[in-house]
Amino acid sequence: MRRIRSLTALGSAVVALVAAFILTERYYLEFDFVEQKTLNHDMDIPEQQREWWKEAVIYEIYPASFKDSNGDGIGDIPGIISKLDYLHDLGIDVIHICPHYQSPQVDMGYDISDYETVHPPYGTVYDVQALIDATHTRGMKIIFDLVINHSSDQHKWFQESRSSKENPKRDWYFWRPARWDDEGNRHPPNNWRSHFTVPAWTWDEKTEEYYLHVYAPEMPDLNWENEETRHAIYNSSMIFWLERGIDGFRIDTVNKYSKDVSFPDAPITEPSEETQPAAKFYNNGPRIHEFLGEMKEILDQYGALALGELSHFPYTEERELPFVSASTGQLNVVFNYGLMALGQKREKGQEGRSPFNVPAFKAELSRWQCFADETDGWVTLFLENHDSPRSLSRFGSNGSTEEQVRSGKMLAMLMATLTGTLVLYQGQELGMSNAPRSWPAEEFKDVRSVNMVTRAKETCRADSACLEKELDGLWETARDHARLPMQWNSGPNAGFTDDGVAPWMRLNDEWKIKNVEMQSGNPLSLLSFWRRMLKLRKEHQELFVYGTYRFHETEEEELFVFTKEWNKKKSLTVVNMSGQEKSWQGAASIIGEEGRILAENIGDGAHRHKTLSAWEGRVYVTTS
Ligand code: GLC
Ligand code: CA
Repeated sequence: MRRIRSLTALGSAVVALVAAFILTERYYLEFDFVEQKTLNHDMDIPEQQREWWKEAVIYEIYPASFKDSNGDGIGDIPGIISKLDYLHDLGIDVIHICPHYQSPQVDMGYDISDYETVHPPYGTVYDVQALIDATHTRGMKIIFDLVINHSSDQHKWFQESRSSKENPKRDWYFWRPARWDDEGNRHPPNNWRSHFTVPAWTWDEKTEEYYLHVYAPEMPDLNWENEETRHAIYNSSMIFWLERGIDGFRIDTVNKYSKDVSFPDAPITEPSEETQPAAKFYNNGPRIHEFLGEMKEILDQYGALALGELSHFPYTEERELPFVSASTGQLNVVFNYGLMALGQKREKGQEGRSPFNVPAFKAELSRWQCFADETDGWVTLFLENHDSPRSLSRFGSNGSTEEQVRSGKMLAMLMATLTGTLVLYQGQELGMSNAPRSWPAEEFKDVRSVNMVTRAKETCRADSACLEKELDGLWETARDHARLPMQWNSGPNAGFTDDGVAPWMRLNDEWKIKNVEMQSGNPLSLLSFWRRMLKLRKEHQELFVYGTYRFHETEEEELFVFTKEWNKKKSLTVVNMSGQEKSWQGAASIIGEEGRILAENIGDGAHRHKTLSAWEGRVYVTTS
């Protein structure tokens, strides 16, 4: 499965190619819109292979930062409803709403205190029902976030659980006694570290035991070993909303529900630290597929999509297939962070990233394209989400506006022509970038960032060089970048909230040059380009969604060249993932005489040149 097929050059049939280029109509250049055709239902793709969720383009919405409808500086459900036409027009089929449930917001709603009510600043259950209906009216679907590895410590289940050792819900969470050393000092039951840089156990004075939380202390882990707990979770978090008509879930931390409940110490890999990384003990435990199987039975009754988030996972094909195999898996598809984690460094609670490495990126993407081709599993395609920095800042240009737009289009061509369920994150279609490094760290609100800054200040004290270095690392990985308000127009507060109101997070400085209103009116904008690429993806979905992927070696390692094939039809995508010009003349031998340009990001007939400019991309397709 691990093979990346490469095609040796077939020779240089340059003459044929030149002829094909001369015949290429300018009609296909980037400044033209392509008429939206109705979906081709006569495609010769076997019915059992076709699924709506494979062909769908999903758009992730972060409610707090999408659109504020009532001037309190916080995005809300009515705000989302007001932008559904925009999303429909963009070519979105499914919206994914990040947690909208009642929550003290320690982790922006991933700490839920009641699954059956809505976070009041976002709206009410009635507003959410109106959103579900309004989405369906437009022929789109809607999926919710399902966060059930943990609840908030304010959830009534945990309140009961912590009230006494005898409480019937005591066992709904993981409570363990302290360990005491020879000097009589109290220690947690084991040495596990949580994801937000504190021990994974917190001492509870009242009943004098520790409870487990692999995230923040305010997010205690639910005990899935207890059958009664599992059924309460299914009823409250899943069935309640499925009955209201949603089309599925993005399932948070889907591989964490089964843990090693003997709670062994993790091996000491960082001797100077008190706590140790322990992900392998609380991920992918022995009962994980059994638990997910139970969930699948419920989801199947509603025909609901199960899109899991496979976090902190050894991303190998052999490990992933049991989750997503069409015949034996329990989920339809997962978010796999293999690509996003490339170059991520994590040591002693400090974070950072090594520079973007194109060969590694190509190899990782190719590996999962082959997985989709060669197994009965499926993949998602995504370059950003609410937990990641912006893709343009990582994989594209941080240079002039023109270069940024060009590199954004290059990434759009890449994503729109690969196999998988394509997922966009709000603002990606505008080319929103990371927050500037010049901002004070206080602008970052994420619990993970705040903890990292506190820790850095404690470690570095008066050493400002040390602190700056820590902040550099934070800036490379912060989740806050993606959480800045959406940029709707060039007016006050970018149209996110009312004039004179302070948005809950600061607007990125670039909003005047990157916003929906401005880009909608400009056929050369990145937004217009995404719209067009999504239409092309649908028109040619037998190739782009389902076609067989083939990677092509190039001498220039920053070029990414691949073909997709379905029956006699073929496409070729070539992108330059660098800010330097690269020479390349391979199109003739790969796509042949019949190839014509379907999309490109430099509208000057540049495809006739023997080089690719910085960030240039082209998509060719055969006509037959
Ligand atoms: C997932 C979410 C992330 C959250 C974590 C804990 O990884 O995407 O935002 O902090 O789970 O629920
Ligand atoms: Ca609001």
